[in-house]
Amino acid sequence: MSGNPDDVEPAVGALRYERRQMLPKTTMCNDKLHQFLQALPKCEHHVHIEGTISPELFFRLASKNGITLPSDDPAFDSPAALHARYQNFTSLDDFLHYYFIGFSALINASDFEALTYDYLALAYSQNVYHAEIFFDPQAHISRNVPYHTIIAGMNAAKARAAVELPKLSVEFIPCLLRHLPVPSAHELLEELLASGHFFDGTLVGFGMSSTELGKHPSLYKSVYDAAKAAGVGNFTAHYGEEGPSDYVKDALSLLNVSRIDHGRRSAEDVDLIAQLAESATMLTLCPLSNVVLKGVDRMQDIPIREFLDANVRFSINSDDPAYFGGYIQENYCAIQEAFGLAVEDWEKIARGAIAGSWCSLLRKEQLLSEVDSVLQEWN
Ligand code: HPA
Ligand code: ZN
Repeated sequence: MSGNPDDVEPAVGALRYERRQMLPKTTMCNDKLHQFLQALPKCEHHVHIEGTISPELFFRLASKNGITLPSDDPAFDSPAALHARYQNFTSLDDFLHYYFIGFSALINASDFEALTYDYLALAYSQNVYHAEIFFDPQAHISRNVPYHTIIAGMNAAKARAAVELPKLSVEFIPCLLRHLPVPSAHELLEELLASGHFFDGTLVGFGMSSTELGKHPSLYKSVYDAAKAAGVGNFTAHYGEEGPSDYVKDALSLLNVSRIDHGRRSAEDVDLIAQLAESATMLTLCPLSNVVLKGVDRMQDIPIREFLDANVRFSINSDDPAYFGGYIQENYCAIQEAFGLAVEDWEKIARGAIAGSWCSLLRKEQLLSEVDSVLQEWN
């Protein structure tokens, strides 16, 4: 297995075509605000880079890297069979089973570069101007793909984006994985701290993802405390996706988090809603993900109106777009079709997403002025 960080090739542009092929036929919503929603400058705070591997790309990389596909599951007979399986997820854990198999095809820095650059180019075509990207180092390191291989590839994509996608800022956030033992999370933290990457601008914060039920925030307090003591500045955690609002409340009090990924179920607790609004904690909502993973029956069941009315800050994100049938624009459109929001609602969402971003004040001002230009055209 090659783990040479210098092994970075130009990204493969054809991937974008493969991704477009898998988008739902209705990527345009019929709403009168569609053009506005397309033009609106966006911040993406919740996308897992490994969740951007389409079935076509998975098959191609697996073949290139000599990876044997699981033979005991007919979903791996063809990309089409895998697409079909992705239409029928029953839960977060059912999805995670396929998501982590998808990792097996990623071996070289060039694989991570191609994956990351291609996501960035696609997101930019939807007017994402600031992207904070999650990745899951433990699930690569455990297959002998070193951390420095992953980050070399992702950094090469970021450097290319700085030239070719000039209005885009890019940040990276490693996530610890809750299905693995807590000592493994401490080992990851030690490796990340030893890299110096939290302090040289390579990593902007620290997050936590994977299975949720039964994984109370108290289990990870020692890891978050150690990161905080070492000087890591920004913390987030996936909670309130499948798990109860108490997990969100306890994550806020135990883990020093300034945002919550998903957090949808926070709406079940009126006191928590007030606390989120008061503390300006941002929720990184992922509408299509919630519908596809059966967290809600219908898009209309996502508490968008409740959060807007209570001044809870949130952004709208794609999570794992290759698995859930849409990138950020498709999520914006799905929300608009379900809720018929007004331009003022979108202005509030856009301004809140910029305020909650992990970037400099100067960068926030630049993003705000981009939003203002589009708003001027629509007001
Ligand atoms: N939830 C938890 N872990 C994840 C997700 C998610 O939606 N996507 C990728 N890892
Ligand atoms: Zn997620």
